Amino acid sequence: MKIIKVQDQVEGGQVGARVFQDALQTNAKVFGLATGSTPISIYDAITKSDMDFSDKISINLDEYKGLSGDHEQSYRYFMQQHLFNEKPFKESYVPDGLNPDGIAESERYDAILDQFPRDLQILGLGQNGHIGFNEPGTSFESTTHEVDLTASTIEANARFFDDQNDVPRQAYSMGIKSIMSAKQILMVAYGANKAQAVQAMIEGPVTENVPASILQKHDNVVVILDEAAASNL
Ligand code: GLP
Repeated sequence: MKIIKVQDQVEGGQVGARVFQDALQTNAKVFGLATGSTPISIYDAITKSDMDFSDKISINLDEYKGLSGDHEQSYRYFMQQHLFNEKPFKESYVPDGLNPDGIAESERYDAILDQFPRDLQILGLGQNGHIGFNEPGTSFESTTHEVDLTASTIEANARFFDDQNDVPRQAYSMGIKSIMSAKQILMVAYGANKAQAVQAMIEGPVTENVPASILQKHDNVVVILDEAAASNL
């Protein structure tokens, strides 16, 4: 893993956007994208740049089950607001939160992932070490699946909703095997509340109890951290 320490999220966004641009310049065609507050500064920097990826494909990690793409807390809506409206891809895929059939939706999304292998996958980190919505205990061999969110993830994500009871209890997530199949991975984490997960990801044993620890087995990972997130290393 190549670890890059940054002063703050603005600098992290610039460094992340450069990783994205380098991939574009080396002919990357498919970009795996993430949501959450962490990648916002990367998307800001990309939006302000002169990059053009209107002939490329994007595929997002996950989506809340039960939310439509125009619900303000859906990840599709997030991507529209933070990136796609300003800088569109040729095609952008996000799991369909309104598909009530978890098996059918997972199969549909896996077919898309098979069709479009990712050149670069952007990842944030859950406080409990999750990636995408792959919660602790998820098999490293997992493909797209329906997830029951843990209480800690519901609590952590409640800040985006009016009421904790409004946070969906399930989600669709790309699996860990699919995440690991990307040629390059860009992992980003900020803040003291991620320090423990960052340490477990980088220095701990590779274990399904810490989904992000699998990144130790990938040969092309860039990790962007601020001082607080790196403070346990
Ligand atoms: C959610 C997303 C993850 C994200 C995580 C951290 O659970 N499914 O992909 O990495 O939140 O979010 P944040 O970046 O807001 O800390």
